[in-house]
Amino acid sequence: MIEPVIVSTWAWGHTACRRAGEALRGGRSLADAIEAGTVAVELDPTATTVGYGGLPNAEGVVETDAMFMWGSTLEVGAVAALRGVRTPIRVARRVAERTHHVLLAGEGARRFADAEGFPDEGMHTANSRARHARWVAEGRSRFVRRDHEDHDTVCVIGTDGAECIAAVSTSGLGFKLPGRVGDSPLIGAGGYADAEVGAAAATGVGEEVIRAVASFAVVERMRAGMHPDAAIGSVLGEMVRRRGHVLRARHDQVALIAVRRDGVVGAGALFEGFVAPVYRAGEQFEHALPPPLLESDRAWMDPAGRD
Ligand code: GLY
Repeated sequence: MIEPVIVSTWAWGHTACRRAGEALRGGRSLADAIEAGTVAVELDPTATTVGYGGLPNAEGVVETDAMFMWGSTLEVGAVAALRGVRTPIRVARRVAERTHHVLLAGEGARRFADAEGFPDEGMHTANSRARHARWVAEGRSRFVRRDHEDHDTVCVIGTDGAECIAAVSTSGLGFKLPGRVGDSPLIGAGGYADAEVGAAAATGVGEEVIRAVASFAVVERMRAGMHPDAAIGSVLGEMVRRRGHVLRARHDQVALIAVRRDGVVGAGALFEGFVAPVYRAGEQFEHALPPPLLESDRAWMDPAGRD
């Protein structure tokens, strides 16, 4: 066993790390600490692409995706296109703990949540309603995605040297087509944990992460002996080699985090702007990221240049 290490994504990952750290210091298990950290972001109404207050789909309904995976047993539970639960990570964990299934989607996921006692709650905040109303008023295409800030995921991964866990939760791409499922609930894409090696998780444009089966690819490179930073750099590099023209043109951000079972951390992103908060032995800091692989396209940032 080692002193537990927790890694998360984006600025709200500081909240996740802080809450997970508090839970660990209070004697909770690694799994409970990682769930607590994830829930703290899910319930934060200012986290506009996760849980409560997440941006809705094109029809104005918030649909969330989440996954919870234990690396010691390869047990995993996930939900996709789940409606009306502010803490989807808890439902994902229940899928693993209460069923023999791995992934429940849509209406079936909702009915499972009902059976497990999760109330059907309002998911909207004034901000998420207003953002959807503005998107509708602008007459934007339901089939075109352009708001790169609207697909950020909270990932919380960790190890104590024996167990490795990956938790991932998001409301997905803002204004997505109803029923669209991103990478977050897909094992190996949005997250993966194998306690013989470590854990990894992804944030960014889910379609690109799915194509690369990115989290599994990172874990497999670590298994082959690569440092977590190098494993992530290799996976992102391969994405650029195969899809660089599309990634550049659309400014499709993808970022990955990883932790080896001995607590060594890695992170990296295609474009600038990503941060990876870390909790270790009562301390909180951000992992020093390697330079991004792609440069921002300023034309993309100009609203007039958008679709
Ligand atoms: N990575 C989150 C999503 O694309 O849904």
